Amino acid sequence: MTQEQWTAVDHYFTDLLVPPDPALDAALQTSAAAGLPPHNVSPNQGKLLLLLAQIQGARTILEIGTLGGYSTIWLARALPSDRRLITLEVDPKHAEIARVNIAHAGLSDIVDLRLGQALSTLPQIAAEGHTFDLIFIDADKPNNPDYFTWALKLSRSGSLIIADNVVRNGAVVDSSSSDPSVQGVRRFNELLASEPRVNATAIQTVGSKGYDGFAIAIVTTDQ
Ligand code: SAH
Ligand code: DHB
Ligand code: MG
Repeated sequence: MTQEQWTAVDHYFTDLLVPPDPALDAALQTSAAAGLPPHNVSPNQGKLLLLLAQIQGARTILEIGTLGGYSTIWLARALPSDRRLITLEVDPKHAEIARVNIAHAGLSDIVDLRLGQALSTLPQIAAEGHTFDLIFIDADKPNNPDYFTWALKLSRSGSLIIADNVVRNGAVVDSSSSDPSVQGVRRFNELLASEPRVNATAIQTVGSKGYDGFAIAIVTTDQ
């Protein structure tokens, strides 16, 4: 199996199931033109996020790691118009592009983008008394263990926690890896395993973004 095949199959499913969308397509184009890294979820993964948020009946969503707002737009579209998605981004250039893309998608009233280190903005969000029905962790991987701790604090019984990039081309099984992202993801996975307040699994994925995967956990107790 090759990257070429994975990409062809992703295109096959995307052509069938993910129709062209002016706002989403523009978000990718604007992000690429501005030189943002191509680290957005793929179209069929974005639609999976939308479906998970809809299955969850999510009314409040937290995203850690906005980039150009591509996954943000997918997730925000699952929300009723009177509800909120808070998304956290440290890079002012990424945030600026994301604001343009989110506005172009007509979602500025739903999306609350907070600029800053997530480990600084998360305590503020907790102090404001928010809880979230769905939390998507997709920022700097070395901080994943801390993001999981915050996600739990900001959850209620039944909240869904989803983390992107937990396989990292298979490197996740290398316990002696010197890559801080691999170690962050491994520690995160171990926390999922040992935390009695969540029930979790993880899935490997291949596709246009290569070989990676996501973890998904449901919070089973009120915090
Ligand atoms: N969720 C996006 C992709 C996010 S890429 C999508 O699928 O479309 C990861 C993002 O996390 C980058 O924009 C990066 O700048 C941001 N990031 C990295 N470290 C961060 C931190 N400490 N706090 C907040 N955001 C951070
Ligand atoms: C990287 C980060 C991501 O969130 C992603 O989906 C793909 C790649 C990265 O930092 O390399
Ligand atoms: Mg990611």
